[in-house]
Amino acid sequence: MMRTRPLKVALLGCGVVGSEVARIMTTHADDLTQRIGAPVELVGVAVRRPSKVREGIDPALITTDATALLKRGDIDVVIEVIGGIEPARSLITTAFENGASVVSANKALLAEDGAALHAAAEQHGRDLYYEAAVAGAIPLVRPMRESLAGDKINRVMGIVNGTTNFILDKMDSTGAGYQEALDEATALGYAEADPTADVEGYDAAAKAAILAGIAFHTRVRLDDVYREGMTEVSASDFASAKRMGCTIKLLAILERAADGASVTARVHPAMIPLTHPLASVREAYNAVFVEAEAAGRLMFYGPGAGGSPTASAVLGDLVAVCRNKLAEATGPGESAYTQLPVSTMGDVVTRYHISLDVADKPGVLAQVATTFAEHGVSIDTVRQQGRPDGVGNEASLVVVTHRAPDAALSGTVEALRKLDTVRGVASIMRVEGE
Ligand code: NDP
Ligand code: HSE
Repeated sequence: MMRTRPLKVALLGCGVVGSEVARIMTTHADDLTQRIGAPVELVGVAVRRPSKVREGIDPALITTDATALLKRGDIDVVIEVIGGIEPARSLITTAFENGASVVSANKALLAEDGAALHAAAEQHGRDLYYEAAVAGAIPLVRPMRESLAGDKINRVMGIVNGTTNFILDKMDSTGAGYQEALDEATALGYAEADPTADVEGYDAAAKAAILAGIAFHTRVRLDDVYREGMTEVSASDFASAKRMGCTIKLLAILERAADGASVTARVHPAMIPLTHPLASVREAYNAVFVEAEAAGRLMFYGPGAGGSPTASAVLGDLVAVCRNKLAEATGPGESAYTQLPVSTMGDVVTRYHISLDVADKPGVLAQVATTFAEHGVSIDTVRQQGRPDGVGNEASLVVVTHRAPDAALSGTVEALRKLDTVRGVASIMRVEGE
């Protein structure tokens, strides 16, 4: 049965993502009506700058008073694509209080305050959907929340930030400089309003917190996620990676401990072998590996950023939430029943690539090897060469370790820095995906 009375939608934000949401709602209106079982009508668009020309949007819909729009009392679904913490958080709460369900792309807010927002949705019997908040167009949140709800996820590893993947890919494949590649990513609409969130790993960490919560049915806050950005990755790191048959990616890695009693969540640059499927993820694409007990290894791949891909995920949520509304039902809420503790980075076990500048004289190698041994870190390979810049009596020493706890590696590096023969620690990079 097709309902003729439209479901009313308020759009909060009409920037890179919001403008595409509005465009698709208009151009695909008939298909959306058929798929939902009722027409959807855009009844208001809240923005900051009302005089800005917005192609395809009826100027009569534009308002700067988002709260008044939500308080009309007849809105069925609110799409929040403003971003940031406030006013987005207050507006979403107001939406629930006024009887609307919410679709949001706001990973920063969900990572910071997801539990309270889920609680507000539940209290008011409404939906909170956020597929677009993680990995753009890629269906990932819904498969993990729903399709894998009967399985046990043990590990998630992926590239979840398009901007940094774009930059690292350009640096690797074209030799482009960091700033040049960042400017291009910004012009293409991938970067956040403040690109610090992308390049320092905050955006990926927010996504990691959201995914870890879903994967392990526990609450993982943004502060629980270990985070390192990619601004220190240099051309010489890429050269070292190449020598090892690797490339460098900014990875989000979420793991359940072997005994199942805790989890870890981290974001940092890492070397991965060129043979690993994540190594071939180019430009602003994202890809996420999910390892589940019964399903085995699943890989989700696609455009991770940009207006149109992200709008696709938002529209998918809009259809789902509208269907729920017509069925007088709600979709899944937060699942945090396991209450697992989140371990610190020191407990993470992985391999390391360490590049040292050392004095080129007898006994140095033995001294360095002893330092590793004293901290219980086993060496896999060592390569020594004279410094390419021709600095006399100095050599570059590259040590690749076997798997070791991060705390042991940190202790090793601290001790290495104190050796007279070690002039500097040029870089430390984790090696993943082997
Ligand atoms: P933009 O900065 O392009 O757009 C933000 C929009 O919000 C603008 O229309 C702006 O108005 C409006 N706005 C800002 N402050 C207010 C306010 N106080 N009241 C009403 N409207 C306001 O952001 P994006 O579209 O890129 O991102 C939106 C959300 O989607 C963010 O949460 C982001 O993290 C997320 N996201 C973005 C992706 C992308 O590739 N861009 C991908 C996945 C998620 P005005 O137009 O007048 O400036
Ligand atoms: N700035 C984000 C990125 C947008 O580059 O991945 C998508 O979340």
